[in-house]
Amino acid sequence: MNLSIQLAPENERGLLLANPVMTASGAFGYGTEDNHLFDIQRLGAIVCKGTTLEPRDGNPQPRLMETAGGLLNSIGLQNIGIAALIKEKAPIWAKWRVPVIVNIAGETIDEYAELAETLDGVAGVSALEVNISCPNIKAGGAEFGANAESAARVTAAVRRATSLPVLVKLTPSVSDIAAIATAVAEAGADAISLINTLKGMAIDIDKRKPLLGSVTGGLSGPAIKPVALAMVYQVAGAVEIPIIGCGGITTADDAIEFIMAGASAVQVGTAGMVNPRAPVDILEGIEEFMLKEGIESITGLIGIARC
Ligand SMILES: Cc1cc2nc3c(=O)[nH]c(=O)nc-3n(C[C@H](O)[C@H](O)[C@H](O)COP(=O)(O)O)c2cc1C
Repeated sequence: MNLSIQLAPENERGLLLANPVMTASGAFGYGTEDNHLFDIQRLGAIVCKGTTLEPRDGNPQPRLMETAGGLLNSIGLQNIGIAALIKEKAPIWAKWRVPVIVNIAGETIDEYAELAETLDGVAGVSALEVNISCPNIKAGGAEFGANAESAARVTAAVRRATSLPVLVKLTPSVSDIAAIATAVAEAGADAISLINTLKGMAIDIDKRKPLLGSVTGGLSGPAIKPVALAMVYQVAGAVEIPIIGCGGITTADDAIEFIMAGASAVQVGTAGMVNPRAPVDILEGIEEFMLKEGIESITGLIGIARC
């Protein structure tokens, strides 16, 4: 069976994954924390926590809240900053066979470009995922992903600043996701990942106050899967570049649905907070499905449910 997939076919460095299962940014830290629970190197790729130029403490507590079928988070991009990532994490990644993709976020286009330039050539960094979709920060984030023009401007600036493969991560909080995806592809993205969380909130009726410290947060988990799947399906009909599906993927069947809708790879986020082994369980489930169905290559599954 061949599970390998090339996510940046047009990029001179390429981004070849041994299989299509990746961790989603923010759910598995830097890939170094869960190694005692399963061999993280069996996965196709690791996407690390969203990284900014300076370290960030994130938003006020409480920042996590379980909802029916989902999770609300308002972490607010708490992270160690680019300098510590290069000093402390990249040297570990450089010894791994699994590619690590660094998720980057800025408040201005120049910040995105500076992050991209700084990471170019850092051993252990295989690609960038440009987060223009975080709903939990006051400036930048989802603002850039909200319309085609600003999404394209960030993508083009990152493209100019690095020779690394560039994935751009889209927000579902838009009226025409296909138009944003098309603009991002035309601006030089190698691949598109979607979706980030949907803006949501919860209220403590006894205290008569919002439950999250920053009032609203991002909804993830099984509750958003049908939304994410429909958006992947739509984007797959609009662009030629590879798509990475994300949003509520909890089982191998979920992952296969995304691949059949047109995704070349998938990311697993919230499911890992219930079952830290979820990504590897999903990978094994995909292998079982392919064996049972006599499918020799994962590429034979991509988009086969498309009408
Ligand atoms: C606690 C938490 C932190 C997250 N942090 C980031 C982040 O730093 N950058 C990013 O692009 N997405 C972040 N996300 C969004 C996930 O990567 C993913 O797009 C989203 O949760 C949907 O997938 P899921 O339902 O499998 O979790 C975060 C999600 C959660 C739950």
